[in-house]
Amino acid sequence: MSTIFTHISKIHGLTSPEKKRINLKFGKEMSQVESISNAFIKVENGQIVEIGVGKPEINDTDQVVDLMGKEVIPGLVDSHTHLVFAAPRHEEFSLRIKGASYEEIAASGGGILNSAAKLRMMSEDELFEQAYQRVLAMILQGTTCIEIKSGYGLSVDSELKILRVVKRLKAAFPIIIKATFLGAHAFPTEFKGQPDAYIDLILRDMLPAVIADELADHIDVFCDKGFFTVDQTRRILERATKFGLPSKIHGNELGLTGGVQVAVEMKSWSVDHLEHCSEVEFELLKASFLADSGYGGTMPVALPGTSYFLGIPYAPTRKMIDFGLPVVLATDFNPGSSPIHSLQNIASLACTQMKMLPEEVFNAITCNAAHSLRLGDQLGSIGAGMRADFLVMKTSDSIKTIPYFLGQNQVERIFIEGQEFFA
Ligand code: NIG
Ligand code: FE
Repeated sequence: MSTIFTHISKIHGLTSPEKKRINLKFGKEMSQVESISNAFIKVENGQIVEIGVGKPEINDTDQVVDLMGKEVIPGLVDSHTHLVFAAPRHEEFSLRIKGASYEEIAASGGGILNSAAKLRMMSEDELFEQAYQRVLAMILQGTTCIEIKSGYGLSVDSELKILRVVKRLKAAFPIIIKATFLGAHAFPTEFKGQPDAYIDLILRDMLPAVIADELADHIDVFCDKGFFTVDQTRRILERATKFGLPSKIHGNELGLTGGVQVAVEMKSWSVDHLEHCSEVEFELLKASFLADSGYGGTMPVALPGTSYFLGIPYAPTRKMIDFGLPVVLATDFNPGSSPIHSLQNIASLACTQMKMLPEEVFNAITCNAAHSLRLGDQLGSIGAGMRADFLVMKTSDSIKTIPYFLGQNQVERIFIEGQEFFA
């Protein structure tokens, strides 16, 4: 049986079968969005099997869903979150308003260590219940694929606890969720002054347990000033590579600290943050794509929610795009630097603060984001062979209204594998 979605005024973000594996947009291509008018979508077994214009052929056994002249876009892809956490950190929010910096708060035992202390005390069930509500809220904002990191455990038990919560979230929701092991998020209090001993714990105990229980799809390291050095990052990633775990790393948030260099060297799928990024890094990122026939590469991921919330510079995505790079945007949803769960709000920040065009933003949260998780052959655009994960929008010209109406949800209906999603 097929389900046929009819009366679609426009579909934005189309792909085609021959393009779907390389559905990644660089530089100028980022301002192009493929659309068709007066369209229908045919779905079988959760996959799109046909896109057409005008009236579809309908058999007696087909189910018809009339979309009443609305626009359709692909489900949004959030490639970077830390949504399994125990509590907000509004005490630190007030401290920062009074002038303390993120780094000062972290150095005095707050920040990530504050979140770790709270998470270690919370039961797995309670963490799951809270995280469940957060994923639900994100889906209602149109996000239909989410990457979730550990990193607030910083001990074998607590890191595994977070990753088990993510595994339960994968089973609880119909969307695609990917897990990232971020044991190297900060040095825990009990390892103060003994960085090598903590890295030994990650390599000897945490990583093998994560692999044995199949709890992670990727690994991450916070490679930055006051956190993990380039050499420490390389050491961790080399071991992960032996286990076949791809990497996505935090780099260049707090300075030009070599995060891009080590990410490119280690063939990381993405390097995220990049609030500090010069032409030297742009060249390296570009070369990573050329070295891989243009379609592997290390994707630059910008997180404007963090810049907004911490009052630090925005990643220079305008310059990156003008330089010819592909760009991804994500929420970085977490209690310390970006308590923002909506990619629609991120879209608005990217336009007003980073001078990205609405079309560039759209590609950065759909096809390019899907590619940064190496899921571009299933997600992030609409075409035959793709998963039937799409959104029905409230307004016309939805690519433009998403960033324009800040704080107003533009999503009317959500379909995951062709089934309507209800809260
Ligand atoms: O991506 N920068 C490192 N990690 C998170 C923040 C974590 C926190 O402050 O709790 C981020 O911004
Ligand atoms: Fe992050």
